Amino acid sequence: MSFDRTIKIAPSILSADFANFGQEIQAVEAQGADWVHVDVMDGHFVPNLTFGPPAVKAFRPHVKTVMDVHLMITPVDPYIQAYADAGADILTAHVEAGPHTHRTLQAIRATGMKAGVALNPGTPADAVEHLLDMTDLVCVMTVNPGFGGQKFIDMTSKVRKLREMIGDRPVHIEIDGGVDPKTAPLVAAAGADVLVAGSAVFKGGSVETPGVYGNNIRAVRAAAESAL
Ligand code: DX5
Ligand code: ZN
Repeated sequence: MSFDRTIKIAPSILSADFANFGQEIQAVEAQGADWVHVDVMDGHFVPNLTFGPPAVKAFRPHVKTVMDVHLMITPVDPYIQAYADAGADILTAHVEAGPHTHRTLQAIRATGMKAGVALNPGTPADAVEHLLDMTDLVCVMTVNPGFGGQKFIDMTSKVRKLREMIGDRPVHIEIDGGVDPKTAPLVAAAGADVLVAGSAVFKGGSVETPGVYGNNIRAVRAAAESAL
């Protein structure tokens, strides 16, 4: 995985057909997705339950781009090796998930995965200032994590601050929640490069009509790029 700050669209399969993940992943990749975003929820850190390591392992052979795994779980450390074995390329943990995020990021990198750190809307940018040399990605949540299809919460000032703090470090800024062609320009202008989009990518389409996914992906990308 080489580093750049071009706009990348990462469809969240939380909005895909849960009976058909393999084909859904293949469809969004064929239609221009740059990464595939996998939301792991534990019914404890967030009020919803999704994928354990065996499910993520089953997705792996279908993902030809980058499998971006977002852990909304606590604790994180006991599960890092399992998600590495499942084939995650990037593993992101929440800074709110425990008192030792620095150790968690070290442990993620030690497996060979890229390490990400996510911030809930209520958490300030400062919370990751001392982690920036330990991380490959900062995920700014623009909804309260747990569900797809929620309304975008404006975090542009946080994104701008993070972009400044990151400077020349090879650290991605990812936006997660409520990204669509209306909100994408705001976060792209503020310095984000990875845009997670669930409902905005999957809405109106299916594996039988994958062109809809393509149109949706292009619409988000064009809107974001128009702001640069
Ligand atoms: C929310 C998840 C998101 C979610 C985004 O907890 O982390 O990745 O799937 O969905 P949309 O794009 O529909 O807000
Ligand atoms: Zn996510």
